Amino acid sequence: MEKVFVVLFLSLWASQLGGEAAQQWAAATATFYGGSDASGTMGGSCGYGNMYSAGYGTATTALSTALYGDGASCGACYLITCDATATKWCKNGTSVTVTATNYCPPNYSESSDDGGWCNPPRRHFDMSQPAWETIAVYRAGIVPVKYTRTPCKRSGGIRFGISGHDYYELVLVSNVAGSGAVTAAWVKGSGTDWLSMSRNWGENWQSNAYLTGEALSFKVQADDGSVVTAYNVAPANWQFGSTYQSDVNFS
Ligand SMILES: *[C@@H]1O[C@H](CO)[C@@H](O)[C@H](O)[C@H]1NC(C)=O
Ligand SMILES: *[C@@H]1O[C@H](CO)[C@@H](O)[C@H](O)[C@H]1NC(C)=O
Repeated sequence: MEKVFVVLFLSLWASQLGGEAAQQWAAATATFYGGSDASGTMGGSCGYGNMYSAGYGTATTALSTALYGDGASCGACYLITCDATATKWCKNGTSVTVTATNYCPPNYSESSDDGGWCNPPRRHFDMSQPAWETIAVYRAGIVPVKYTRTPCKRSGGIRFGISGHDYYELVLVSNVAGSGAVTAAWVKGSGTDWLSMSRNWGENWQSNAYLTGEALSFKVQADDGSVVTAYNVAPANWQFGSTYQSDVNFS
């Protein structure tokens, strides 16, 4: 009986901690890039290519090294608000949710407090101009912000874009809801077991199996530990260069 109470207490306590962690805001700074139509934000280090076909649109951001984590944060969503206690350039009372789609590299020929905004250990968001102008006045150039991870809302299932050639599949995982950031991925041919893939770059996951002519299923693990399995997403006659949309996603 006592044990039950202890377990109950511990799990209540743990869920409270989880709730608090989810609400925690951290300080960073933000600039913008890519033009007023966000055309310059297409492509990017996460490998999504066209942001519209990847499901991310123009509400995107590049992350400094401290936030990017070698691609681990690709696809993650951040709720960002301008810190009106530290600058007069905020559009007060506003916030914006952006998806991480790019890396903002350091520039060591610029000081980290004068242009080298993405230099370690700075936490910096180089946001699409439309997203940035939601929270701050254009001419400010750079503003202090508060940010927190937030669940990603996507429409439809996770997408799997397959490139490469026989014995080398590179699978771009996009339109990921929930945590948005993928930590592990597996592929299964109709005639194979589950094979784990490795992160090649950004959100491109690699397999060296021969899977040509087999229907493909995928399993994806997000950085909050949850797993989604998408069975038979690509038919046996799948093609390199094609993207297949599953009917499952994280919630
Ligand atoms: C935002 O609020 C701050 C502090 O209340 C104020 O100084 C500033 O002028 C406001 N900015 C805008 C753009 O209204
Ligand atoms: C780095 O900063 C220097 C000095 O401002 C600039 O000339 C150069 O173009 C920057 N490099 C990159 C890759 O942006």
